[in-house]
Amino acid sequence: MVNERMTNEAMDKLVSLCKRRGFIFPSSEIYGGLNGFWDYGPLGVELKKNIKEAWWNDMVTARIDMVGIDSAIILNSRVWEASGHVKGFTDPMVDCKECGGRFRADEIDTTPCPKHKEKMVCDCKDNLTEARQFNMMFKTYVGALEEASSLAYLRPETAQGIFLNFANVLATSRQKIPFGIAQIGKSFRNEINPRNFTFRSREFEQMEIEYFVHPSQAPEFYEYWRDMRYQWYLDLGLSKDHLHLREHEKEELAHYAAACSDVEYDFPFGTSELEGIANRTDYDLKNHMEYSKKDLTYFDDEKRERYIPYVIEPSAGVDRAALAFLCEAYSEEQVRNDKRVVLRFHPRIAPLKAAIFPLVNRDGMPERAKNIFDTVRKRYNVFYDDRGAIGRRYRRQDEAGTPFCFTVDGQTAEDGTVTVRDRDSMAQERISAEKVLDYLHDKLNID
Ligand code: GAP
Repeated sequence: MVNERMTNEAMDKLVSLCKRRGFIFPSSEIYGGLNGFWDYGPLGVELKKNIKEAWWNDMVTARIDMVGIDSAIILNSRVWEASGHVKGFTDPMVDCKECGGRFRADEIDTTPCPKHKEKMVCDCKDNLTEARQFNMMFKTYVGALEEASSLAYLRPETAQGIFLNFANVLATSRQKIPFGIAQIGKSFRNEINPRNFTFRSREFEQMEIEYFVHPSQAPEFYEYWRDMRYQWYLDLGLSKDHLHLREHEKEELAHYAAACSDVEYDFPFGTSELEGIANRTDYDLKNHMEYSKKDLTYFDDEKRERYIPYVIEPSAGVDRAALAFLCEAYSEEQVRNDKRVVLRFHPRIAPLKAAIFPLVNRDGMPERAKNIFDTVRKRYNVFYDDRGAIGRRYRRQDEAGTPFCFTVDGQTAEDGTVTVRDRDSMAQERISAEKVLDYLHDKLNID
């Protein structure tokens, strides 16, 4: 299904807005870029930071049954043998003998041919090789020697670093099952065909939870996490009409999973996965026990029972969440004779919470506006702008998704008030200049 609010043309406009306003740039751009890699600019990095902070706050800080870790990106390569990634983390790939391109065999119907843009790769079928499996882990070497014993991989998921630290966390955090370990960090996959802007990248960030439970409680915790993770996106502004929970069919399940659901979003290029919630059973801990010969069982003092915990894993992508929030927020409106582009972000994730303007650069207005700016920026990420017509300044903030603009004008010197303009309704009211911070606390309601 294609997001009806947003056509592919609008998606192109969003991509260009992301570049123009400093959300997302192609990586290594001055050298022609590198396919599948992206850089986040000043607004993009704030958006991503706010998403990660919201996740960490709601999933870790606000809960007594969760702790966080930050594990290394490069792990002992035995980890990836035990996890099954060395053998099984593959996608089917075909080569085109005509253009030399390599493509995901299961996507040739929807991948445009690089030589004949009007055709799809599947139209070149006489020139395509048989499909073969391609392992998506990036390889590197640890130390000065490039030999088999120093081969290592950039992690393709953050999850394994959590499993490796299960016993360490248990021994140091006083947690008892059921409890979870959370991690946010970069992951790397040598995707055959990165595509759809940042949706499928080769370097991306994940926010993952491994929640350890008694095997008998796995079904109920699976349902709990599936529903709460779906709700989290709604609470941050994704609309129910564009967000879906899709339970995997039995045949679709990974070999280690007893159940799995995807939170899916209606992107302009189709409905696709934002996050997966899986019951991973005891697969990972069991395999790490076998490969490492270390005891990763759990002993329940009260029940005098020893067992290998089952794991419920909500696994989200920061970049995909950012893209979904951008798509949801993007809106074009006719305002009298003018068109305005506005990003209607939820205040919690808006990169800038407010902008402060002097109406003109005289009569003490810049000084008063800077005073307000200096007070507010200690608490919120805010922007000061004294250049151009006031209408243009409002439009720039609309495009950045800034919920409020405060303007110091001639009346400020007389009665100590400023105007505040609401991004969504464009309505303006006057409030005391001294109350700007309180006003933001109240309206943003994000503490
Ligand atoms: N530990 C389980 C795991 O990694 P996954 O479904 O492969 O599961 C989880 O990945 C999430 O990571 C996805 O739902 C998606 O949000 C994000 N993700 C995966 N591959 C990605 C890619 N190539 N580019 C951007 N995000 C990606």
